[in-house]
Amino acid sequence: MDGLVGFLGTAVLWIKAAHVIFVIFLIAGLFMLPRFFVYHHASAVGSAEDALWIEREKRLIKIILNPSLILVWVFGLALAFSLGIWDQAWFHAKLLLVLALSGYHGWCVGYWKKLARGERPLSEKRLRLLNEVPGIATALIVILVIAKPF
Ligand code: HEM
Repeated sequence: MDGLVGFLGTAVLWIKAAHVIFVIFLIAGLFMLPRFFVYHHASAVGSAEDALWIEREKRLIKIILNPSLILVWVFGLALAFSLGIWDQAWFHAKLLLVLALSGYHGWCVGYWKKLARGERPLSEKRLRLLNEVPGIATALIVILVIAKPF
């Protein structure tokens, strides 16, 4: 166990479990939201369907995405402080990727606000491409935390 636990003792394992649970909720939400955007784009601005998508997206953001992002950060930082891994290169790379993923999250929320105002700045093809971001980031982050290649 030593090396695996820090000042939080074995509680660190529970915190790690909580971290991974909210990582799953967050990533599930990040997969869903831009997919909703693609369906949303198919509805006419101001239609009943448009209003329905705005509401669905709002619920996903407020109930799943935002709380999960906060909890992932809180539990992740608790793990980092407890394990004292601030000087490790894999962790620096992970931090860069999670910052980028949090930026993507913020961009998605911003895009939802535009949709709610009746704006459709991106093409459906662009949206589908952007949908690849969370998948690629998740693969790289999991490799970094599990295999710790450097
Ligand atoms: C948001 C900021 C985040 C911070 C500060 C953070 C920090 C940490 C730390 C310190 C650990 C423990 C590593 C170890 O035991 O060696 C950990 C574990 C883990 N993190 Fe994060 N993390 C964050 C976000 C994420 C995200 C977005 C993902 C996935 C996309 C993720 C996936 C994981 C996984 C799968 C583990 C478990 C690794 C294991 O079983 O040892 N984390 N995280």
